[in-house]
Amino acid sequence: MIPGPTPVPETVLVELARHPIGHRSKEFSDIFMSCIEDLKWLGKTKDSDAFIYTASGTGAMEAAISNVISPGDKVLSLVIGVFGKRFGQIAQTFGADVEMFTCEMGKVIDPKLLEQRLSLDKNKEIKVVTVTHSETSTGAANDLEKIAKVVKNHGALLLVDAVTSLGCMNVEIDSWGLDIVISGSQKGFMIPPGLSFIYVSKKAWEYYKKSKCPKFYWDFGKHKKSLDDETTPFTPNVSFICALKKAFEMMKKEGLENIVKRHECLKSNLRAGLKGLGLKLLTEDKDASAAITAIYPPDGVSVPDIRAAYKKDWDITVANGQDTLKDKIFRIGHLGFVSDRDIEMALAVTEKVIKKLRIKS
Ligand SMILES: Cc1ncc(COP(=O)(O)O)c(C=O)c1O
Repeated sequence: MIPGPTPVPETVLVELARHPIGHRSKEFSDIFMSCIEDLKWLGKTKDSDAFIYTASGTGAMEAAISNVISPGDKVLSLVIGVFGKRFGQIAQTFGADVEMFTCEMGKVIDPKLLEQRLSLDKNKEIKVVTVTHSETSTGAANDLEKIAKVVKNHGALLLVDAVTSLGCMNVEIDSWGLDIVISGSQKGFMIPPGLSFIYVSKKAWEYYKKSKCPKFYWDFGKHKKSLDDETTPFTPNVSFICALKKAFEMMKKEGLENIVKRHECLKSNLRAGLKGLGLKLLTEDKDASAAITAIYPPDGVSVPDIRAAYKKDWDITVANGQDTLKDKIFRIGHLGFVSDRDIEMALAVTEKVIKKLRIKS
């Protein structure tokens, strides 16, 4: 029960066992294009292009940055945890002048403070804003709709990391005005790590035309040209794209609203149960991601001991905290192929683990 890679449904696993087909065949092209259409369905977009990269989520983050900025561009990176910081660091790597707009770990960006910051930018020097929707390192989720509104009023391009939100939480690319959105296969998509997804708006294409950063594998232009021919510029992970089609079939059967509702319920039930056990959570209810919950250990009990007991006694993996939160919190993932039963089991096991360790301590 980690926040990715998540469990994989059997239909997807079976698909992964098949012999790979040729990536220039009509058979594959049909599968690939159906995945592109389904990506648009998932992100509620008709206006943006959608691409699939054979890469992990970080690859798509790098693609987002390298296709729209030029060295020296001012980038405002909204940082509520490890992954928000990573977006800013990638922009720095490509020569951007990055300002990290941070808040305390576990909290989210206040749209009013962001509005104040952007209102100081009279000469419109800030070209790009990066934001994490669901911050996996803390289990907090930014109010993406409000943030997008503020950024739109300013005029900067908005780059969104939706790695642990797409396929779990509502993401409305067109109506919220999200310019670039990226995600990864090992989360709400219910397939193993290895594919990433990227949506590119018309406004982002304007930035692309002016961008002076080096790029080859990530070049949006190459992907767009191939997509117009219903193919990819390089050899894609054929097996994973076939598996993605199976995962989309499941997702469409469940329906987008039901997927979002299910994750909301998983989150609420888990949080209520953990609080019932007397445990303190890192994020407030109003800021909680539907995909991950971060939990403080009870007094006198260490995070490594908790994780070891879950694993040794119950064969369940829960995640440690990251960076400054390492050994301070543990995290339970509840995204993708997860049901009520998993949450009930996690709660029952948590109760036993805590009881055992409290007796020992
Ligand atoms: C919010 C978020 N962004 C980016 C990433 C990076 O993705 P990857 O590890 O697939 O490169 C992750 C990975 O967990 C993530 O959770």
